[in-house]
Amino acid sequence: MPVTTTKSSLADIEAEGLVLGVYAELPLPGPAAEFDRLSGGTLTSLFEAKEISGKKGDVTTLLAPQGVKTRTVVVVGLGPQNSLDRGTAYRASAAAAKSLSSKERGKVVFALADQWSAELVEAAVCGSVVGCVGQDIYRAKKSRFPLANIVWAGVDDAAAERGAILGEGVNLTRRLVNEPPSDMYPESFAAAARKVAAATGLAIEVWDAARLESERCGALLAVARGSVKPPRLVILRYQGAAADKPLLALVGKGVTFDSGGLSIKPTDGMKTMKCDMAGAATVLGAMQAIAQLKLPVNVIGLCGLVENMISGDSYKLGDVLRARNGKTIEVLNTDAEGRLVLADVLDVCVQENPARIVDLATLTGACVVALGNDVAGLMTNDEAWCGAVKSAADTCGEPMWQLPMFPEFGEQIRSEVADIKNVGDGRWGGAITAAKFLEEFVAGKPWVHIDIAGPSFLEGAKPWLDAGGSGFGVRTLVELAARGV
Ligand code: BES
Ligand code: MN
Ligand code: ZN
Repeated sequence: MPVTTTKSSLADIEAEGLVLGVYAELPLPGPAAEFDRLSGGTLTSLFEAKEISGKKGDVTTLLAPQGVKTRTVVVVGLGPQNSLDRGTAYRASAAAAKSLSSKERGKVVFALADQWSAELVEAAVCGSVVGCVGQDIYRAKKSRFPLANIVWAGVDDAAAERGAILGEGVNLTRRLVNEPPSDMYPESFAAAARKVAAATGLAIEVWDAARLESERCGALLAVARGSVKPPRLVILRYQGAAADKPLLALVGKGVTFDSGGLSIKPTDGMKTMKCDMAGAATVLGAMQAIAQLKLPVNVIGLCGLVENMISGDSYKLGDVLRARNGKTIEVLNTDAEGRLVLADVLDVCVQENPARIVDLATLTGACVVALGNDVAGLMTNDEAWCGAVKSAADTCGEPMWQLPMFPEFGEQIRSEVADIKNVGDGRWGGAITAAKFLEEFVAGKPWVHIDIAGPSFLEGAKPWLDAGGSGFGVRTLVELAARGV
């Protein structure tokens, strides 16, 4: 999806769509004011009559406007000017793009920016690339028509290019999550990763079942046993700085379908479980963007890929597994599989000697109970590193909130027969007992766990985004990498 820029004045722009921004209060920003002048005061009068509110993300469509050579003008609210941030710019621009993608359109010009910082432009361009893409991959009658020719007016070329790269990363993650689970399984995910690596110059290594066996990844392999689809571990390496510079590690849960295993899920809980590889997809989307942006950092991305299914050889309740780091795990619920997969992937990660680790996982329903659908949970063994992740997320407008890691939660995963068990005592605090389990495998390295069970997959559409995979987390990871390790 090509994004270009233009320096032409509004009066000269010929396009099928024009997007303008208005704040919650007058005066109108530059491009909107210019349109207002050309159209004989249309915007001012609509604003004063409260037909246009300027509220964040509100979209108003004006058809056949006077004074410009565009058939459709979309006016999007940016909220109060003094509180305009990247999250608002992303969502407003995405809402406008979503609205214009209801039918096939040629050139669409975005003229939102009014002396905006490069960061705001980047976020808004990203939104324009993401908002117009939907989840109707397999529908004959499309509901979204991705804008084929997006032009940003009056912005810096480099900022626009960065925003487009970021948007493509988010869309990659969304597409992988939206693919049906019988098409997106460990091998096909690995194949998608190989394509990304070939296109961006990332180094890639894929471990098959035999390699995972020889690496003693007993916890990951136990989960994989119930499926006819063999597991994979994808390792992506990006070197943007000298080899002796600190390494940032991104780890993703890639359960391409979570039936729950023998602790089988009911239909309602299972029907969206193609989304259980969102952590891995987020890591891949972010790695693609980091490589294309040529960020001056070293990053390793690890995606643990398995399908959690049922067969005559499924792993069982009461089984004791030996994880790669030597710890033994009593299995008391086969639906608590994500932590078993991550246990071994985190240990492989530790072996690479990263300075900092972030993992992303659709790990627990309990996190959604605690924080709702829109907020990810943060859990850590290192307050400073968690602060850095939270700050990057806040800046991008991706809501995340820290949950406590009191030692008492760790007591809950002690087992009578093994070193640890894969569930806590009862349901309460389940997001945290899961994180305490993961902590057993990071060898004390600075680590932040992001539970994205809520925000990674939208069951209903948002004003700025269709339902399905949201790409949540990609922007935060890229921001984190851009800030350096
Ligand atoms: N993949 C699920 C968590 C999940 C729930 C993700 C809802 C997205 C939306 C995970 O593997 C799981 O099943 N967790 C169990 C853990 C329990 C058995 C300790 C859960 O949350 O119920
Ligand atoms: Mn599960
Ligand atoms: Zn799961």
